[in-house]
Amino acid sequence: MKICFFDAHQFEEDIFTKVNEGHHFEMTFVKSHLSPQTAILAKDHEVVCVFTNDKVNREVLESLKENGIGLVALRCAGFNQIDVAAANEMGIKVVRVPEYSPYAIAEHVTALILTLNRKIHKAYNRVREGNFSLDGLVGFDLHQKTIGVIGTGKIGLVLTQIMKGFGMNVLAYDKFPNEEAAKSIGFKYTTLDEVLGLSDIISLHVPLNEETFHLIDRKRLFQMKKGVMIINTGRGGLIETSSLIEFLKNGHIGSAGLDVYEEEEEYFFKDLSSRVLTDDILARLLTFPNVLLTSHQGFLTNEALQNIAQTTLESVDDYKNNRPLKNQVTVQ
Ligand code: NAI
Repeated sequence: MKICFFDAHQFEEDIFTKVNEGHHFEMTFVKSHLSPQTAILAKDHEVVCVFTNDKVNREVLESLKENGIGLVALRCAGFNQIDVAAANEMGIKVVRVPEYSPYAIAEHVTALILTLNRKIHKAYNRVREGNFSLDGLVGFDLHQKTIGVIGTGKIGLVLTQIMKGFGMNVLAYDKFPNEEAAKSIGFKYTTLDEVLGLSDIISLHVPLNEETFHLIDRKRLFQMKKGVMIINTGRGGLIETSSLIEFLKNGHIGSAGLDVYEEEEEYFFKDLSSRVLTDDILARLLTFPNVLLTSHQGFLTNEALQNIAQTTLESVDDYKNNRPLKNQVTVQ
């Protein structure tokens, strides 16, 4: 069975090649995103494997179908980038990796919080230039402050545990509260309005869908405490970026740690350092000293990559042998 990987990076080729020693699939690694123009590259393969920024819309699916593809394997948890209904209609199956390491992402959230709060990104550059002054580097104790966790699924729950370790009060909001976890970890569920109004730090862990698109808009930013820190490792579309910029400019939002960005597929995962940045919103975000942007790297640990490769190739193996697909995505 032949698998064509799109948006493939060297670190993925290495780990998939190693895990494939136990499977012996034929694998092609393509650097380009999957698009109507590149779908032809999947010809002569049975499976395509895509990542978060490959847009798998109806047009792409039709082209894949024409080229004989029967399975789209998403090597990620979120599935907002694929038209699952269209795939189901065409008889193309879709699988994903629902869980690979909630620790990887929750620990990256922690890194963003600590870096922004203690201004490590500024201190690092300052000291290397021989500037040992401390002005402008004052942070705050996390101890006894309040963090609001929006979405208490796998990642959100690991984050609540880490934050309890810092002695923080944890407030949470979820459409489907997990009261058992709240009791055992020691956090409290409340309304979205209260989480927004009472938290010193707010971290987003809900999936992106029609309901959550621009969950954090102008009105909700206004509801937040002055000086709040916002962390988004969920999906860029959860925050209305133009309003975030407005509130960063007027000082209402104290700082932002973003591992995702609304228009990230044009930029993230690529070395564009010798090109001019044409996205004015992204360019503006990069000018703030109190904004920390990472290029969707929350998942990037050895453990997570190993789990992604293992689960993906196991799904392809199940597909090849006509076994039920444990991680299949269908329209609800
Ligand atoms: P999960 O499915 O375990 O948890 C999501 C939680 O959100 C659930 O508890 C659900 O009840 C809640 N939820 C869903 N819709 C809601 C709504 N409208 N309002 C309130 N709560 C709602 O997902 P998991 O594994 O914790 O991942 C969360 C998100 O993190 C993923 O959807 C993905 O977009 C993102 N992610 C980012 C990564 C990165 O590298 N930055 C890596 C992996 C995931």
